[in-house]
Amino acid sequence: SNGAAKAGKSRNILEKMEESDKNCVVFYGSQTGTAEDYASRLAKEGHSRFGLKTMVADLEDYDYDNLDKFPDDKLAVFVLATYGEGEPTDNAVEFYEFIGGEDVAFSEGGSVDDKPLANLKYVAFGLGNNTYEHYNSMVRNVDKYLTKLGATRIGTAGEGDDGAGTMEEDFLAWKEPMWAAVQESMGLEEREAIYEPVFEINEKADMDADEDEVYLGEPNKNHLEGSQKGPFNANNPFIAPIAESNELFTVKDRNCLHMEINIAGSNLSYTTGDHIAIWPTNAGKEVDRFLTILGLAPKRHTVIAVKALDPTAKVPFPSPTTYDAAIRYHVEICAPVSRQFISTLAQFSPNDEIKAEMTKLGSDKDYFHEKVIDRHLNIAQLLEILSNGEPWNNVPFSLMIEGLVKIQPRYYSISSSSLVQKDKISITAVVESLKKPHAPHELKGVTTNYLLALKQKQHGDPEPDPHGLNYAITGPRNKYDGIHVPVHVRHSNFKLPSDPSKPIIMVGPGTGVAPFRAFVQERAAQAKAGQNVGKTVLFFGCRRRDEDFLYNHEWDQYKEALGDNFALHTAFSREGPKKVYVQHKMEENAEEINKLLEQKAYFYVCGDAANMAREVNALLAKIIAKYRNVSETKSEEIVKAMRASNQYQEDVWS
Ligand code: 2AM
Repeated sequence: SNGAAKAGKSRNILEKMEESDKNCVVFYGSQTGTAEDYASRLAKEGHSRFGLKTMVADLEDYDYDNLDKFPDDKLAVFVLATYGEGEPTDNAVEFYEFIGGEDVAFSEGGSVDDKPLANLKYVAFGLGNNTYEHYNSMVRNVDKYLTKLGATRIGTAGEGDDGAGTMEEDFLAWKEPMWAAVQESMGLEEREAIYEPVFEINEKADMDADEDEVYLGEPNKNHLEGSQKGPFNANNPFIAPIAESNELFTVKDRNCLHMEINIAGSNLSYTTGDHIAIWPTNAGKEVDRFLTILGLAPKRHTVIAVKALDPTAKVPFPSPTTYDAAIRYHVEICAPVSRQFISTLAQFSPNDEIKAEMTKLGSDKDYFHEKVIDRHLNIAQLLEILSNGEPWNNVPFSLMIEGLVKIQPRYYSISSSSLVQKDKISITAVVESLKKPHAPHELKGVTTNYLLALKQKQHGDPEPDPHGLNYAITGPRNKYDGIHVPVHVRHSNFKLPSDPSKPIIMVGPGTGVAPFRAFVQERAAQAKAGQNVGKTVLFFGCRRRDEDFLYNHEWDQYKEALGDNFALHTAFSREGPKKVYVQHKMEENAEEINKLLEQKAYFYVCGDAANMAREVNALLAKIIAKYRNVSETKSEEIVKAMRASNQYQEDVWS
């Protein structure tokens, strides 16, 4: 929690609303920034269309024991993402524990049966992913708790599904009837929406970009002054040296990086199975495109001071800075474009014809999908195409900051054991370059290509950057020697059994093998140290043995340490006429899997959530049904119980 960093600020939301003359607060529980973005969009829309006096609030910044005094002429909105296995996002943990607590205690006392929140009117939207078991459990549970406490929900509780890829459309479809219900409940008239900037941007003609107090990508003041100080966390990354980097394989446009990130002296710590967050930089090519299409390229290094016009809004990056630095380091310019944002931007089109097209894109869902989503365009690519490269000089810079998400760290499963190398974190990442059928541009993963550029620089590769991505590598001021990357660590529940003699089964095709390389590394070290280490079974899959077999050279070494207790089952999907996947190898070893599970083996899956992890789950239930001679319904229950007791653990992504 970053409570300490914000110490001194009032945690009383009622006081805060009163002071700043607000009658609607939009709380968000956000992990990757989407919920936060939706919250600020709702706040802005509530204000511009209905005259609500709105503010956005991070759930972790306030206390909730006075919600029983929330006035009935005000409104609370909850935008809540569900994280991983039905968990609250980091910033919503305390709120969730409070509001769902057995003995939830409000300032006026009284029990749950007294309906302490009878005055509270609220709106709720959840962000979830239906490939996970506990789909949208945050919003469902919070809605249930609030209702139980006597609060009144306005409209239905919305649910967005990232698994189906319909999050944005789910949100847009939910919010119109919600606004109608809010209007009715609060007696609001809709008005002609006019754009009011949230931020004031002052160009500082008297300052130079190279002056000491100008932020050129530094995340905060300590970094600016060249003395980074811990604790390092999601609000304060550690600029870590890259001790080593290499390519595990390179095939045409597909390569896999292995990096060793040095966290010595940072006080950061990790345990095997944790994640490391990498803070990316945008590719120079996309920064150039963005600044050019907005007509900002000629003054990219002009110093700007950015100030929030509304005291409850936060400037999403430190200021003073430059247009270039703000966009390069702090704004997510390569993300998919939101349809609502296109509607808002329409009024600033360079001419009426383009404005008509923007309005159509904003209002016609299918058209928008065909022209923007299916073509995988980012905002600048879209504007470029629409205006034929003519600059959009009328777009307020404030609108860009409001409408785009602030840059988010990307999480990687750590591929080293903390027992073996406590000060060096390994990551294993496939560099993404995708050619999509309707996309005019090749899709380039922001972070993986950034990491590749760091590797190329570190090695002085003879032909770096074939795609002209032009990443800034050493940072603007070159304050740190060598190659660095901003990081922090996120602790996870994906853990080896504390008793190493327990058997484990791991399923990790592709880069899903990352945490298992760490697990096996750890158990090999334990075995070498004379500990009794149990059966260690790994199912790994890739395309071809001689192409993308990750850590091919290491497994023998672990085998030496672990002996017959280590089994590696490999599936090569593209060697023969038929696909061979890890599931096929599991079937071949089904009896053994069942036997180990009966001996309380831990079962782990890492990698693709949408297909692989689901199929493995279903297959496991089939194996159990067959070898324990129970019905499929029963075996599915057994698998569910294994998950509930943490015998079955997942680290999956979509
Ligand atoms: P493919 O790309 O040849 O289909 C790592 O990505 C490995 O996982 C590849 O060999 C890939 O095979 C395979 N893979 C793709 N889909 C899968 C699925 N649904 N289950 C298991 N493995 C899969």
